[in-house]
Amino acid sequence: MSGKVKTIGVLTSGGDAPGMNAAIRAVVRVGAYHGIRVMGIRKGYNGLITGDMVEMNARSVSETLQRGGTILQTARCLEFKEPEGVKKGVEIARVFGLDGLIVIGGDGSFRGAKDLCAMGLPTIAMPGTIDNDIDCSEYTVGFDTALNTVKDAIDKIRDTATSHERCSLIEVMGRNAGHIAIHAGIACGAEVILVPEHEFDFDEDVLRPILESKSRGKKHSIIIVAEGVGGVVEMAKQIEKITGIESRATILGHVQRGGSPTVRDRVIASQMGAMAVELLLEGKSNRIVCMQNSRIVDVDIEEGLAMKKELPQELVDLAKKLSV
Ligand code: ADP
Ligand code: F6P
Repeated sequence: MSGKVKTIGVLTSGGDAPGMNAAIRAVVRVGAYHGIRVMGIRKGYNGLITGDMVEMNARSVSETLQRGGTILQTARCLEFKEPEGVKKGVEIARVFGLDGLIVIGGDGSFRGAKDLCAMGLPTIAMPGTIDNDIDCSEYTVGFDTALNTVKDAIDKIRDTATSHERCSLIEVMGRNAGHIAIHAGIACGAEVILVPEHEFDFDEDVLRPILESKSRGKKHSIIIVAEGVGGVVEMAKQIEKITGIESRATILGHVQRGGSPTVRDRVIASQMGAMAVELLLEGKSNRIVCMQNSRIVDVDIEEGLAMKKELPQELVDLAKKLSV
């Protein structure tokens, strides 16, 4: 371990995700274990630029493991996208004596982390986003909790859809990615799953499966639409008009971002947060802590950002087979 690192900062950035608190807690407690000071920076890169930070200790993170959201709060900081903003962040970090920084967020936040490293502040990033859209990581903290929230909601929608023999369209989050949609589709038995990664034909891929499943005796149709595809309200109207099947649209929205993190999210957040601290203590910088082959590892930020994550084809194929 390097004796040079005495004080580090931690911040959460971009959209919040359940499990971010577990990650903050791991950073603070593993920092305390190694005898270093940890400063909690509020509201993402905004707090770094303005010096909005407070020293944390093992007790500051008591009773946070089970809480959703982020106790440090988060933000989208436009100023940080400019070199001047990053420069200000590095200067403020120096004023507060930060020898390193841990950033918990999505790929936008990782770009900020890369810029900080380039301007001289050793930084380690770890994935916290419900979207599971970080290219170099099989998993992002928050994904499992969000999926369980989606599952609970769709199970309820299915009850009423069956009672009324309706078609229910449910829009789930995921920004430009369909990971939430494909996993929720398999877990909730969707007849149709629409994701931004794959083009679709409305007649062939939406109307036909609905009509076929009705003729096979199914009492409802569940259609999951990723937000990157969108348009559920209009689609519901079209389905009803063309097929005569009553259709309803639900946009799940921010309910997917809240709630107490699942065991999976708590454990992975704890592992990743701990590794982030230990990487800084080893004198490393410009790394993303991520999951590869089910193990927590670290990769170079630039290399990690340059990777391309596909929607797992085996899940897409499975969803199709299961929907008959
Ligand atoms: P996420 O981290 O969840 O992908 P955003 O894309 O909104 O969320 O990014 C979060 C924050 O990261 C932005 O508000 C900004 O402060 C910072 N950021 C995003 N892109 C860049 C960039 N290209 N350079 C520097 N900072 C960036
Ligand atoms: O990245 C997480 C996420 O919830 C996306 O799924 C969604 O597109 C976006 O954030 C919503 O952002 P906001 O909370 O700013 O509306």
